[in-house]
Amino acid sequence: MKNVDTRVRIFDTTLRDGEQSPGASMNVEEKIIVARQLAKLGVDVIEAGFAFSSPGDFEAVRRVAHEVEGPVMCSLARCKSEDIDAAWGALKGAARPRIHTFISTSEIHLKHQFKLTREEAKKRAVEMVERARGYLDDVEFSAMDASRTEPEYLYEVIEAVINAGASTINIPDTVGYALPDSFGALIKGIKENVPNIGKAIISVHCHNDLGLSVANSLSAAINGARQIECTINGIGERAGNCSLEEIVMIFKTRKDLLGMDTNITTEQLYPASRLVSSITGIMVQPNKAIVGDNAFAHESGIHQDGLLKDKSTYEIMRPESIGLSRSTLVLGKHSGRHAFKTRLAELGYDIAGENLDKAFDRFKVLADKKKEVFDEDIEAIVQDEVLRLDLPERYKLIKLNVSGGTDTQPSAEVTVEVDGKAVTAKGTGDGPVDAAYNTIAGIVKTRSKLLKYSVNAITGGTDAQGEVSVRLEEEGNIVLGQGSHTDIIVASAKAYINALNRLEYKKRDRKETLVL
Ligand code: KIV
Ligand code: ZN
Repeated sequence: MKNVDTRVRIFDTTLRDGEQSPGASMNVEEKIIVARQLAKLGVDVIEAGFAFSSPGDFEAVRRVAHEVEGPVMCSLARCKSEDIDAAWGALKGAARPRIHTFISTSEIHLKHQFKLTREEAKKRAVEMVERARGYLDDVEFSAMDASRTEPEYLYEVIEAVINAGASTINIPDTVGYALPDSFGALIKGIKENVPNIGKAIISVHCHNDLGLSVANSLSAAINGARQIECTINGIGERAGNCSLEEIVMIFKTRKDLLGMDTNITTEQLYPASRLVSSITGIMVQPNKAIVGDNAFAHESGIHQDGLLKDKSTYEIMRPESIGLSRSTLVLGKHSGRHAFKTRLAELGYDIAGENLDKAFDRFKVLADKKKEVFDEDIEAIVQDEVLRLDLPERYKLIKLNVSGGTDTQPSAEVTVEVDGKAVTAKGTGDGPVDAAYNTIAGIVKTRSKLLKYSVNAITGGTDAQGEVSVRLEEEGNIVLGQGSHTDIIVASAKAYINALNRLEYKKRDRKETLVL
């Protein structure tokens, strides 16, 4: 009897395509923390970045690939020698390295963007796969915009790159244009028309512009794809990528019909979702499948009645199966360092030494102010005390005093350290936050525009910490800043300063634009 491959490999691209979500850039330390959680989750491949695109990405790929154990570690590379060489430079010495090289194959891209003939694109693809194979055995090739490529030409390119040594062939729906039936038929067509396809794994990479990325990936798997590229919470370029938690839970929940498996430890899905949301500042919509706040909340009386009688009446998955059984109340002022460290580890943060001391000190201060310290508070502390410290800080908030009320013009006095020198200024505004922001902007002389400001109470109660997120833009660079504090004006100032520091970092580490 023929051995049927029923295992679908999960290729996580949260750190590469996910990071292409506007404002979602992560620093190296943050990427390592996410990568460790991905390894705990059991993903097969981690795409750690695009080594050639910037020195920051190179370093992130290098450190993730060398410091995180378990999955295959991959760098993206255009079909250009310098990209392949940079990818290898970052991956060399890693336990399980992969180079993922790509070139567009659709007529639209070749003609209008890259000015290449089909023959030239195919030749370059073959040469670059061969170049990558000169460095290592594991090479993935992507035919960008494959879903809008003429199938006969796509078959030709795939056959040629497999002969050149590619062992994974990725079929991206780059612009999220495909429909499930036709995308499934494309994969079937590849299986039937590429003579050497048996030597490679077919992978898919679907974008979510029409909300079909998960459906298209599923249809591809039903038709023979055995690797799915996806991201935590579905983040990614424009409307994002196929959501890892959704596709994985489909295979698990409907194994009866689909007969396929992944290697994912599904109990780690919810912690992974929380971690990525807290690090990137990209909120998960409450009604999002699997990991949204309401995904397991039953409101209707009829449903509640059924659930009380038997869970199977309205629940197709157990919340515990995605790791949602944790207690909401975690620690208080009598909790010790060991309990704090243990909870951090459960939340995906592996922190020790000086960083743990800083976070624990801040926890004690907070626990004195608040009766109950929740997971969300702990995540905010790590964000503030540990992760943000990895960012080169040109600006530091030293002091902030604001006044306002019904009868006075809101005003602020702020001291910010700029390149190691303390500068104090006063200013006014429409409200205390506006006054603080105007004053800070004057001190640092920023030309950035505030695109978005939002404040959330991290947990319930008037003693809750406020978490502020701001989005800033300057010369096309968009960054997100976050700050938390029991005083929301202080949280606002911290978020603004954090975003300004990120902007400085981003301007220095500007990524190459994708030009072939
Ligand atoms: O969407 C896309 O086509 C990509 C490729 C680089 C794989 O991200
Ligand atoms: Zn993509």
